[in-house]
Amino acid sequence: MSGDSFAKRLEEKSAVVSDVIKTFLPKEEGYAKRVFEAMNYSLLAGGKRIRPIMMLESYRLFAGDKFDESIINPFLAAIEMIHTYSLVHDDLPAMDNDEYRRGRKTTHAVYGAGMATLAGDGLLNYAFETAIGGAINGKGCSDYDGETSNRYLAALSILANKAGIYGMVGGQCADIMAENATGLSDKEMRDVLSYIDENKTGALIESSLMIGAVLGGADKEKVEKMERIGSSVGIAFQIQDDILDIEGTLEELGKPIGSDEKNKKSTYVSLYGMENAKAKVKELSDQASGFLKDMGFEGSFLDELFQYMIYRKK
Ligand code: IPE
Ligand code: IPE
Ligand code: MG
Ligand code: MG
Ligand code: MG
Repeated sequence: MSGDSFAKRLEEKSAVVSDVIKTFLPKEEGYAKRVFEAMNYSLLAGGKRIRPIMMLESYRLFAGDKFDESIINPFLAAIEMIHTYSLVHDDLPAMDNDEYRRGRKTTHAVYGAGMATLAGDGLLNYAFETAIGGAINGKGCSDYDGETSNRYLAALSILANKAGIYGMVGGQCADIMAENATGLSDKEMRDVLSYIDENKTGALIESSLMIGAVLGGADKEKVEKMERIGSSVGIAFQIQDDILDIEGTLEELGKPIGSDEKNKKSTYVSLYGMENAKAKVKELSDQASGFLKDMGFEGSFLDELFQYMIYRKK
């Protein structure tokens, strides 16, 4: 399968997922119309939709002939809402202070910082309204062997946990604290970086793969394996993002380059150098593919995606 045709299939999946997300968007009406508009502005700006695609493909692997889009669709929309909120807040003047995102002016540049803050809050909350709605109305699932036997509840718990202080928010906190970091040894700085990458980016990718598995009928042990895979591929994704912040272009990325340098961020490139960063992306992605192979998923769409992402330019 050539790289080009994979890119095309990925784009098709991204379009499918975008259509699903659209069916869950809030209607722009009433006295709070402005915040609905700001939420939809960022959600509809595009984006690669990597997280919902990973969730969908993980679900497909485990669900087999029990595949049912009514079960997974609300969660696809929810993970993209949470990810989009994280970007809207990440771009705020008080955080990375960036002006372009997904090829458009950032939400705060168009709607102001106050409305962008609310749009992020709205997206985060609406993600749970959407996923909980899916759980309430969803078809019955088999029992799960985790902390709860209810697969919807398990999926919601993963979604909440990985987005919060023990996940993405925690990682973003350490990311800000590490700006202009001084007084830490090289070893300490590298430990902090590994926490940052695992949490600010790894966590939502882990949750995508895990939720797909839980709702697809996987047992707890397999869900934990998907978490491990998500960790490797999530850290690789962030390192590649840091590489593209230097070697990419605004046109291709749809967001500014040089943001990390501007904000004096600690990244894999700043701590280990460009060549080591590229080698690490490959090593972690191969590791993720290896784990997939151990589970019998060699050559699956996810496997191809992990390999494709090593060389992504956006
Ligand atoms: C950007 O994520 C932020 C990171 C966690 C690296 P994506 O590269 O997935 O951004 P979109 O969704 O395609 O815009
Ligand atoms: C952000 O990392 C990760 C998030 C949780 C949003 P970056 O700050 O490097 O993401 P970009 O480069 O702005 O997309
Ligand atoms: Mg940031
Ligand atoms: Mg940023
Ligand atoms: Mg970045």
